[in-house]
Amino acid sequence: MLTQALNERTAYYLQLEEQFGAHNYHPLPVVLEKGEGVFLYDVEGKRYYDFLSGYSAVNQGHCHPQIIAALIEQSRKLTLTSRAFHNNLLGEYSKFITHYFGYDKVLPMNTGVEGGETAIKLARRWAYDKKGIPTNEAKIIFAEGNFWGRTLAAISSSTDPSSYKGFGPYMPGFGLVPYNNIAALEAALQDTNVAAFMVEPIQGEAGVVIPDEGYLTAVRNLCTEYNVLFIADEIQTGLARTGKMLACDHENVRPDILILGKALSGGTMPVSAVLCDDDIMMNIKPGEHGSTYGGNPLACAVAIAALTALKDEQMADNAEAMGKLLREGLAKLDSPFITTIRGKGLLNAIVIKHGNPEASWDLCLALKEHGLLAKPTHGDKIRFAPPLIINEEQIDECVGIIHQSLKILE
Ligand SMILES: Cc1ncc(COP(=O)(O)O)c(C=O)c1O
Repeated sequence: MLTQALNERTAYYLQLEEQFGAHNYHPLPVVLEKGEGVFLYDVEGKRYYDFLSGYSAVNQGHCHPQIIAALIEQSRKLTLTSRAFHNNLLGEYSKFITHYFGYDKVLPMNTGVEGGETAIKLARRWAYDKKGIPTNEAKIIFAEGNFWGRTLAAISSSTDPSSYKGFGPYMPGFGLVPYNNIAALEAALQDTNVAAFMVEPIQGEAGVVIPDEGYLTAVRNLCTEYNVLFIADEIQTGLARTGKMLACDHENVRPDILILGKALSGGTMPVSAVLCDDDIMMNIKPGEHGSTYGGNPLACAVAIAALTALKDEQMADNAEAMGKLLREGLAKLDSPFITTIRGKGLLNAIVIKHGNPEASWDLCLALKEHGLLAKPTHGDKIRFAPPLIINEEQIDECVGIIHQSLKILE
């Protein structure tokens, strides 16, 4: 592994985290203090292209002016009431987001993983109240390689030992099928106690794994045929990231339950949402689910601004165009160390092949030196997912940086 000399200020902040914080992450050795658009700045004043975008939470770019304006304006008026009382923004936001995505109702939560938990609770309740599955027998099917967070339920569906190992016992009532495998899904759906299939339209954390064209359509058709809910986890793929407002839009399929998070606040605060129609949502009654912060007026104001920016600035179209340019630029480098370039819109990954198992990490350190921040996942994959406001000239510059940085592997 490459080691790099650290500036004194950077070393100071790293040491503080090391000494006083849990060691549950392995970040690149860079300490950031400012963000603007597609750029991040470290404590030494160095500028970087952000090619992670907070795991796709910052689709609209860092500190987007209209989102920050909404945040500041609302935070001066009212930030939290809890759901014990009404606030004057929750209704407006609910109308806005349900019209935006075409569902009857929304259930607001905070983090993405809470959105996933909420979707599963909704599916289980629908299974008992509507489908007639015997009490406590409902099953939820997931795809191998899924990632939807770190709660006990989320890790109970994980096939990644670094997520689940050492944290058992696990949540019952969960099943797994291989991703992108319709025959396996159909076999699993023969069990009449299956309530739902929860799936990412593209598996983000697994390293941007894109299913075959037609997969989502086939999932939709099977779920309809077997009276099973199709839950789409669009927390990473949604909100213009893949070149459409939702990744499901690439195949024009409509999930029964849609989960959104991350960029729903443009990276300012945890805001997630679960959308579905009344037949599913109205089975949960007052007092049966909620969250102190879910639906707070600050989150509502911010989410309206974040969704408005995506459409006003046509970020899906830009993601589509810039993603193509990025993949073309990377292909032209013709690097012997890049075996795969894949992606949709601006959710992209490269797979690195090299004798040194630390090659991806070393490449990310070199990218950092040249002014671009990206992070390896699962050892050999590096995600390239800049904010969706990046332009052509900037994509060219970034391809140049990647070209320069690849020399470290020679
Ligand atoms: C597809 C997907 N679902 C859910 C989550 C969990 O979101 P959060 O970290 O906000 O809980 C993530 C986070 O990376 C994700 O990529």
